[in-house]
Amino acid sequence: MEKEYLDLLRRRLSEKTCLHSLGVGRMARDLAGSRGLSGHKAFTAGILHDYAREMEDESLLREARRFSIPVDAVMQVHPILLHGPVGAEMVREELGIEDPEILTAIRCHTCGGERMSPLARIIYAADILEPSRDFPGVEELRRRLQEDFAGGLIQVVESTINYVLSQHYLLHPATVDFWNELMQEEKE
Ligand SMILES: [Fe+2]
Ligand SMILES: [Fe+2]
Repeated sequence: MEKEYLDLLRRRLSEKTCLHSLGVGRMARDLAGSRGLSGHKAFTAGILHDYAREMEDESLLREARRFSIPVDAVMQVHPILLHGPVGAEMVREELGIEDPEILTAIRCHTCGGERMSPLARIIYAADILEPSRDFPGVEELRRRLQEDFAGGLIQVVESTINYVLSQHYLLHPATVDFWNELMQEEKE
């Protein structure tokens, strides 16, 4: 199955993004397995999550219109954020994948959001921490996530938000909602 998906991805993504996608698929499968979730679903969502990652801004905006995906003010400024929702629709249309859990995980992997399923949270974390990712502190984050998924996820979202702020990018409201929900869960 890995090879079939990789061949498919190689037709539309760079080698680097293909390796990243495979890393996310494998890491998501492991995380799902150790949490009693479907490893197959996690692998499928993980390897396909960046299906639309290398489309130009114009194409992402055009496809968003075609799929009736709402484009909010932040996405207007950073159309790259649309590669999650557009990718989910393309995977459905082109590959015939209809599983709502897989599609939602792909849709939410960039900005996060409220009420994400355990699978969607796994894809979000694996996207940042798969083995080819390299940034200061990544190994510590990986270790934390293995030992304590909830605590590790909070650190992943925190580091993502810190990065967005440090670059003076716009922070998407869905990421704020995600953060607030995690903080509420932590206090419960
Ligand atoms: Fe992505
Ligand atoms: Fe990714």
